[in-house]
Amino acid sequence: MIQNELTKRGTLSVHDFMQLALTDPDDGYYTTHLPIGKDGDFVTAPEISQCFGELVGLWCVLLWQQMGKPESFILAECGPGYGTLMKDLIRGTSHAPGFYEAMQVALIEISPRLKAQQAKTLHRKHPHIHWYDSVDQLPKQPLILIANEFFDALPIHQFVYKDTGWCERHVRMQNTAPIFVDLPTTTVPIQKQLPQGSIIETCPQGIQALNSIDYHIGMHGGGALIIDYGYTKAHTHKSTLQAVKQHQYHDILSEIGTADLTAHVDFDTLLQNLNHCHGWGPITQGQLLYELGIDLRVNQLAATSTTSQRQLLYSAKERLIGAKQMGTLFKAIALTSIALSAPFAFTNTQGSSSHEAA
Ligand SMILES: C[S@@+](CC[C@H](N)C(=O)[O-])C[C@H]1O[C@@H](n2cnc3c(N)ncnc32)[C@H](O)[C@@H]1O
Repeated sequence: MIQNELTKRGTLSVHDFMQLALTDPDDGYYTTHLPIGKDGDFVTAPEISQCFGELVGLWCVLLWQQMGKPESFILAECGPGYGTLMKDLIRGTSHAPGFYEAMQVALIEISPRLKAQQAKTLHRKHPHIHWYDSVDQLPKQPLILIANEFFDALPIHQFVYKDTGWCERHVRMQNTAPIFVDLPTTTVPIQKQLPQGSIIETCPQGIQALNSIDYHIGMHGGGALIIDYGYTKAHTHKSTLQAVKQHQYHDILSEIGTADLTAHVDFDTLLQNLNHCHGWGPITQGQLLYELGIDLRVNQLAATSTTSQRQLLYSAKERLIGAKQMGTLFKAIALTSIALSAPFAFTNTQGSSSHEAA
């Protein structure tokens, strides 16, 4: 049990607590659960509509064309869940001449259970599918990488500004119950003073993953599309750590390892950490899918559907792009090698140049 492990290990930073709760080899959430879908704890965009994976696929084909259609490239996905996005992407792009033949599919996944599920979903969908533990292990070839709701699953540190100064938030057992406790620290990521109670979050594994993607694309060419929920400059300095179980918010410290733990992604910090690529965006998920032609694709599918299927198609579209649903909260950023101009849908976003290119 995670609580026993917590008792044994004493006081853990929120970062180490999250890592333990999500990925403990015996009792971690991702190790023991099939989390996505109606019977799981949350639903993701590829599970809502096939259009999501198909349109992300279209974005990849357009990028591949911009790259000069390399005869061999890696199509990688970080945190592929059930493999649904990749399945829809492969099917949706099968008519793009040369794309299917040129791709080698690479799945970066930590959970053995989800790896098995991905293998099932993608059985016979492509002759070259391989699994990797991290981006650093990918073959040294041009890369197109996708990450949907991957960065929000990576552990964060939380720093809290109190009347005594900066503290780091920790978790420890008190008698038989886990509690949060803020302990003074000098390793604060920012210098400026904020109102008392302000919280700063950092995600070192997110930066590390981004650095690896940035370096790979810088060395071998390509681009990446990162979609997630998160904040930009409007961050309110409140905690974004949340637990979700059976589609409801859950107490972060109860039944640890049985609920999904996530935190909002800090897109500005990701873009600021690029050294070898151009960064583009963020744009909203609504804008991305609209520009990729979600209306057209849904109408196309609706034309050969029954009335009830049509209703499902239109309500799924609304869920993906509606401002009050996923359309605005979810955002997309793109990375491209510096030889490339803006990728599709990011043309009017200010490209942030890499440090090397500047
Ligand atoms: C919220 S799910 C998103 C699933 C999928 N992208 C989708 O949209 O349905 C997070 C995924 O990231 C994986 N994951 C979490 N931490 C990881 C890590 N450190 N390395 C690789 N995969 C990780 C999880 O196992 C899961 O597949």
